[in-house]
Amino acid sequence: MKHKGLFVTGTDTDVGKTAVATALLLSLRQRGLDAVPMKPIQTGCLKHGDDLIAPDLDQCLRALRLTPAVEEAEWMCPYRYLPACSPHLAARLARRPIQLRRITAAFRRLAARHDFVVAEGAGGVLVPLDERRTMLDLMRALALPVLVVARPNLGTLNHTLLTLAALRAAGLKIAGVVVVSTKRGRRGRIERDNLASIARLGRVQVLGRLPYIATTKIFRATALHFSKDWKLPTAVFPKLGKNRVTLFQALENARA
Ligand SMILES: Nc1ncnc2c1ncn2[C@@H]1O[C@H](COP(=O)(O)OP(=O)(O)OP(=O)(O)O)[C@@H](O)[C@H]1O
Ligand SMILES: [Mg+2]
Repeated sequence: MKHKGLFVTGTDTDVGKTAVATALLLSLRQRGLDAVPMKPIQTGCLKHGDDLIAPDLDQCLRALRLTPAVEEAEWMCPYRYLPACSPHLAARLARRPIQLRRITAAFRRLAARHDFVVAEGAGGVLVPLDERRTMLDLMRALALPVLVVARPNLGTLNHTLLTLAALRAAGLKIAGVVVVSTKRGRRGRIERDNLASIARLGRVQVLGRLPYIATTKIFRATALHFSKDWKLPTAVFPKLGKNRVTLFQALENARA
């Protein structure tokens, strides 16, 4: 296996990265793979006694019904900050600069113990880590294929194509794009066209569309929705002509 993981980035914050990462992990685990989550940098943590709870990791672990040992939980999220802001500002306020070495070491430890690691970025690709580096530098350091999570609606073409251009310029391998509807509403002409346009103009595989799921247990529900897709491609993966591939195929490609 060439890659022991996948990096999930997005066109913005709040686009559905955690939902997709969780869905993927659940699917992989249901297939018997020991796949675990990683959120290398989390801002907006919650204080719990002396500990900082990383909400994305916490939600994901709950959905997977996983309880890692303390040292593994630390590797899964080595940089935790309280303020809900960009990592560069959170790191500066906490006087705790982000060291990529520390993150890659944590990834290697997790990858040595498990079959596969799904790492989630913070925000989008050009989110700063300090005055010099961005999320792209973290992705390059981890050297994993990158999955892009995008919005389905108006504005997504610009954001998604910019994200893909930045990833290519950084020499990163793109595993594909997943479009997530985090808002209620009917899919109109624009949204249907956006998927095909992203695939065509972005020269990328749109691996699927995750529809809006109205439930309070969103992450488990999302994950179950995705995992069902392996047998039922039409519900989540609409027809996109020759660009239509399943998320699982993409993962296989990414791991080949
Ligand atoms: N398919 C879906 N249907 C409905 N709501 C969703 C869906 N996917 C995600 N959401 C909701 O949208 C919001 C954003 O999703 P999520 O937390 O996965 O985004 P994110 O990109 O990981 O955000 P961040 O940048 O904070 O890490 C959450 O409240 C989540 O519950
Ligand atoms: Mg998230």
